Formats: sequence, C-alpha cells, structure tokens
Amino acid sequence: MDPKRVLVVYYSRTGRTRTVARAIQDELGCEVDRIADKKRRGGVLGYVAAVVDAMLARPTALHPMTTDPLDYDLVVVGTPIWNASVALPVRAWLEANRDRIQHAAFFCTHGGSGSARAIRQMEALTGQPSIATLSLRSEEVRRGAFAAKVRTFASALHGSSTSPRTAPPSTRRPVPA
Ligand SMILES: Cc1cc2nc3c(=O)[nH]c(=O)nc-3n(C[C@H](O)[C@H](O)[C@H](O)COP(=O)(O)O)c2cc1C
Repeated sequence: MDPKRVLVVYYSRTGRTRTVARAIQDELGCEVDRIADKKRRGGVLGYVAAVVDAMLARPTALHPMTTDPLDYDLVVVGTPIWNASVALPVRAWLEANRDRIQHAAFFCTHGGSGSARAIRQMEALTGQPSIATLSLRSEEVRRGAFAAKVRTFASALHGSSTSPRTAPPSTRRPVPA
C-alpha cells in the first residue's frame, strides 16, 4: 500500500458537503467516494423523512461502495449536520467501517449549529481523534466563500504524520454525483 494514501468519503443530500469534498480532493489530489443511502431523501418528502429519522436516530441502509478505508492511511469523512448530529448515512458508514480506519479527519457543513457535537460523535464512533477539523456553513459554501478554510484544513492534513501525497491530476478519480 502507498504509505500516504488519502480517501475522502462524504454524504450529501443537497450538494453542499459534496462541494466541499471536491475542494478537498482538489487540494489533496486524493480519491473520493460518496456514501449513498438506500432511502430516497430528495425533495420535500425526503427532507421530512430525514428530519423524522434523525430525531428518532433511525438506522439507515447504504449502497455498497467501491473503496475500502483499510487501503488508505487517512480517511477524511464529511457529513451534513442533521439534528445537531452526524447525518444518519454517515453514522451508518462509520459504524460499518470503524475498525477499517487507520487515521481520520472530519468535516461538516451545517446551517449554523451542531458541528462541534457532530465532530465529537464521529470521533467517538471511530475511536479516532480528528487530525484536523473543518466546519462550514452551507451559506458560505453556496457563495463559494470557503477556499481559504479548505486550504488551511488541507495544510493541517499535509502537516500530520500521515502526510497526504499530492497525486498528479491524471490519476484522480472523478467525484461521484
Ligand atoms: C434532516 C436535516 C436536519 C438538519 N439539522 C440541522 C441542524 O441541526 N443544524 C444545522 O445547522 N443545520 C441542519 N441542517 C442543515 C444542513 O446541515 C445543511 O443544509 C447542510 O449544509 C446540508 O448539506 P448537504 O447539502 O451536503 O446535504 C439539517 C438538514 C437536514 C436535511
């Protein structure tokens, strides 16, 4: 295994967390994989179901993914905040993969609250301290006003003992929609 391999894994219902995942991928030149929930969460009905499921902390099932976190030195996990918590699909992924993550860093997007709690939850779920954290309001992502924070986050990951390798653009895997 390449000793400096990095994977970004994220879930995104409305695209904000995906936008940040792409920006992190651009900074680190790493691979990226999307967590896909089997439950449809689009539109108003999907939103209402997500609110109810999050309030009740209902488990959710995921589609299989192509990547295995065990193949990476560092896994960067991104979540939207749901009910001041890690989103249910990300929780499900962390629970399924907690023993396959060597080092972790967490990021989130949110409407204004709950990010510190969600990061603590992700650390507890994996048993891993986050090497660096990034928390962005969905509004600043929408406006495209987040590049400096992503660069700071990526620099902290570069400076960590699991320093990511910067791959040439030709080796990058496209971000799933
Ligand atoms: C079910 C649900 C619950 C949410 N709860 C919170 C919350 O507690 N605090 C908050 O700041 N934002 C909350 N939000 C807003 C999202 O965290 C925010 O819009 C996020 O950027 C969406 O990311 P995405 O576009 O990647 O799905 C919630 C959104 C949903 C769908």
